Amino acid sequence: MTRKIAIFDTTLRDGEQSPGASMNTEEKLVVARELIRMKVDVIEAGFPISSPGDFKSVAEIGRLAGDDCVVCGLTRAVDRDIEVAAEALATAKRPRIHTGLGVSPSHLRDKLRLTEDQAVERAVHAVRYAKSFVDDVEFYAEDAGRADIPFLVRIIQAAVDAGATVVNIPDTTGYNLPWDFGARIRSLVENVRGIEDVTVSVHTHNDLGMATALAMEAVRNGASQIECTINGLGERAGNTAMEEVVMAIRMHGEELDAHTGVDTRELTRASRLVSSITGINVQPNKAIVGANAFAHSSGIHQDGVLKARDTYEIIDPADVGAGGSQIILSARSGHAALRHRYEELGYAFTDAEFEPVYEAFLEVADKKKEVYDGDLESIVNERNRADEAIWTLDAVQISCGFPLTPTATLTLIGEDGNRITEVAYGTGPVDAVYKAVDKVVGVGCDLSEFSVKAVTRGIDALGEVTVRVTGGDGEVYIGRGSDGDIIVSSCRAYLNALNRLIADKRERA
Ligand code: KIV
Ligand code: ZN
Repeated sequence: MTRKIAIFDTTLRDGEQSPGASMNTEEKLVVARELIRMKVDVIEAGFPISSPGDFKSVAEIGRLAGDDCVVCGLTRAVDRDIEVAAEALATAKRPRIHTGLGVSPSHLRDKLRLTEDQAVERAVHAVRYAKSFVDDVEFYAEDAGRADIPFLVRIIQAAVDAGATVVNIPDTTGYNLPWDFGARIRSLVENVRGIEDVTVSVHTHNDLGMATALAMEAVRNGASQIECTINGLGERAGNTAMEEVVMAIRMHGEELDAHTGVDTRELTRASRLVSSITGINVQPNKAIVGANAFAHSSGIHQDGVLKARDTYEIIDPADVGAGGSQIILSARSGHAALRHRYEELGYAFTDAEFEPVYEAFLEVADKKKEVYDGDLESIVNERNRADEAIWTLDAVQISCGFPLTPTATLTLIGEDGNRITEVAYGTGPVDAVYKAVDKVVGVGCDLSEFSVKAVTRGIDALGEVTVRVTGGDGEVYIGRGSDGDIIVSSCRAYLNALNRLIADKRERA
């Protein structure tokens, strides 16, 4: 039997740090359900002290996970952080506190202003303090990729001696080459006493496009846990993509002496779910989960694949849940069929929550003959967005066409239930709608991106619009909206981004 490599998912923490990728608790629970279903070993559910929203998400995911997986909360090596994380994790059956500090010369000197001795002392205190709340404590040595190796060995030894059950070696800045990172892991495996009794975790970033290669080299040199995110979301260029490391281990398990417990058939579904919730599209040529990952366009390749699939395809699409048949629902599908399909897609509803979803489904099914999984996800996401909305769309009407000046008449409903109507002209219909929204909502922001895509195939497909806006303080917010009418989708997407901006401002005030 090969070694089990634990998969630690940090989509809900580091992944959420991608500009614009913030998720509310409801959305995080949907992702967490999918992570549990795909059998990840650890879910890093948030950074509890960072906001009430993160605290709540960690607590709710702790409750949801039960015995299925470890639920982890991030902290700095600061007492109050650790206390708050322990409080949030009180709901979890298998709680883990993830604490640590920077260990590279640049972090010690410029960020923390600590000597090496002081850093070791703080690390030991943080691990011991966290151990006073939970048994399972993971210590991270931030920026280990640029740390002096003898100091890295020293601080990891101190963390192990203090009782850390997991030591996390991050290449925080994505700086290492694979063999350098592998050598760091080997130095720890060979020089830290007692390391054989703890899990050696790696957490790599993709600044040089090598996050997956670093993780594989680390596994070859003794790492036993990989920290990763769905679709490689994460700070800057992102984290190691879960779909890549899990499939690389599956394809090269013998050579790496490794396997994971992840159900790879869930990878495509998880990717679509995270993309549709965060609004961050997956590039078509993305490994494993991109739309082109199993598309063969040149004649020579098509000929080869038709003769024998493995001439140009190393992975069977079915192994990652791609292709295959999709269940199609229609207006004739009843409550039970719809509910069953949603459950298969990882959604759980109470009866009260399900009713409006069913009604929204019927509205879509009335207009479209066939309702696909993508439509079902859009319906729920649209409802979740409506639930958290500060401003909601009541009505929008457009007059445009040659040679008219595009004009939008729009009514929004505020939190207090009041309706406000405005009229605006624009260079095009969407511009006119957005100007009317601005008149009502009155928050300043710049629209930096607008894209529209069909959720599924066919002329009657739902149109999903994604917008990216930048608020006055430079924060980026992504908004999404879907509807059969793309003017309505456009309006909803813009409102969704503005609602997030306003909610964030309130939370930070
Ligand atoms: O990249 C990093 O070093 C991190 C730590 C907080 C684990 O995200
Ligand atoms: Zn990170």
